Amino acid sequence: PSLLVLNGPNLNLLGTRQPEIYGASTLPEIEAMCRDRAAERGYETECRQSNHEGTLVDAIHDARTRHAGIVLNAGAYTHSSIALRDAISSVGLPVIELHLSNIHAREEFRHRSLIAPVALGQICGFGPQGYLLAIDALAAHLSAEES
Ligand code: DQA
Repeated sequence: PSLLVLNGPNLNLLGTRQPEIYGASTLPEIEAMCRDRAAERGYETECRQSNHEGTLVDAIHDARTRHAGIVLNAGAYTHSSIALRDAISSVGLPVIELHLSNIHAREEFRHRSLIAPVALGQICGFGPQGYLLAIDALAAHLSAEES
């Protein structure tokens, strides 16, 4: 079985992008951590990133036949994209919403997530470590579903 780790806009710049908020790890470093953790839990991992809303929608559609669940950091689209939310509802895969920063402690416009109501749960505020928490949560959910 396989998991999709899907990152949205501006997350390709991790490491140099506002490190005081998002930390010093690069996206390839985070993706490597995700692959290792998922492998420990018995899952393969595909990692994708796009700055384009429609490409993210396509990636969620593609996941339907290829992955058991998704860890999604939708970046700013979290706060605006009905299309991403509808894509999640349409494929019916378990999705863990992930944010490096604690979106609830930041600007008001980041407090609202359009993804949260259709996600299994939300993890935010733990930096890159949060991706590992999300993989653990997804793996635990999937193995509970199996039994
Ligand atoms: C983010 C939080 C969003 O508000 C922001 O637009 C991002 C990154 C995070 O990981 O903390 O691009 O999703």
